[in-house]
Amino acid sequence: MKHFLSLADLSDEEIWALLEKARALKSEYLAGGNKPILQGKSLGMIFQKPSLRTRVSFEMGMEHFGGHAIYISPNEIRLGERESVPDVARVLSRYVNGIMARVFAHADLIMLAEYSRVPVINGLSDYNHPCQGLTDVFTVWEKRGELRGLKLAYVGDGNNVCTSLLFAMSKLGMHMAVASPKGYEPPADVMAQAQAFASRSGSRISFTYDPREAVAGADVLYTDTWTSMGQEDTAAIRRQVFQPYQVNAQLVAAAASDVLVMHCLPAHRGEEITDDVMDGPRSIVFDQAENRLHAQKAVLAELLA
Ligand code: CP
Ligand code: NVA
Repeated sequence: MKHFLSLADLSDEEIWALLEKARALKSEYLAGGNKPILQGKSLGMIFQKPSLRTRVSFEMGMEHFGGHAIYISPNEIRLGERESVPDVARVLSRYVNGIMARVFAHADLIMLAEYSRVPVINGLSDYNHPCQGLTDVFTVWEKRGELRGLKLAYVGDGNNVCTSLLFAMSKLGMHMAVASPKGYEPPADVMAQAQAFASRSGSRISFTYDPREAVAGADVLYTDTWTSMGQEDTAAIRRQVFQPYQVNAQLVAAAASDVLVMHCLPAHRGEEITDDVMDGPRSIVFDQAENRLHAQKAVLAELLA
């Protein structure tokens, strides 16, 4: 592993190694603290969009390892505007030991990785969100003790988070059913890639326009915002189109009785998820958010140590 840009680039063994590492680092941390394996090392964090979880979990992860993180705000370097993406990569990678970037265009991440001397980690792009996908399988594994054969229903926008879940599920042998409105399906190439991974792992990947059909028998029910960062001008129309896809008590009742409800956050309460579900007994959203810290530490340890 040289960079961490997409779970599609990793073998199932590599993903499992990260999950095992995350589990070990989490228990080490909870037992008193991690070893300073990144002492003297630094992570440059480029953000083109806002963040709570990604920013703070990476920053604290570096601190727990004895290292240092530098937050670079959206207005600071204006990636590709004030300076070309290759030049940012060339310069920043002479100062730091790793780069984490949250960008609009995934092509910019690929370019950063191409011109950087140090590993590049995807902190979310319009294409995918691998740190989230890794965290999500880690969280299900932690809660259920297994992954293979479980079914995740993703109800909502076929977006970046959905893409990383499709790659994670199809690589690790979990089944995944996606339900989205017309025009908001996961990209055809992502579905095709996931189907190819699934044919090797034995997972079943399916798509339907009917949320209740996707949710039937689901062990995990997952949703994300209807309007991703950068799509704010289409929020009003999305609120109408996605209404039948809201994760509410009726939809939860259509899943397995012990279903785990997940959301990458930030949540828009009353839109894609209701308060009673988000705060209800089936919700694990805050354990999931916490696990960003532990899963990303595995990535940092693998790439920077
Ligand atoms: N889930 C997630 O990536 O959250 P932030 O946008 O707050 O980083
Ligand atoms: N799909 C959302 C995820 C936020 C963590 C977005 O891109 O805004």
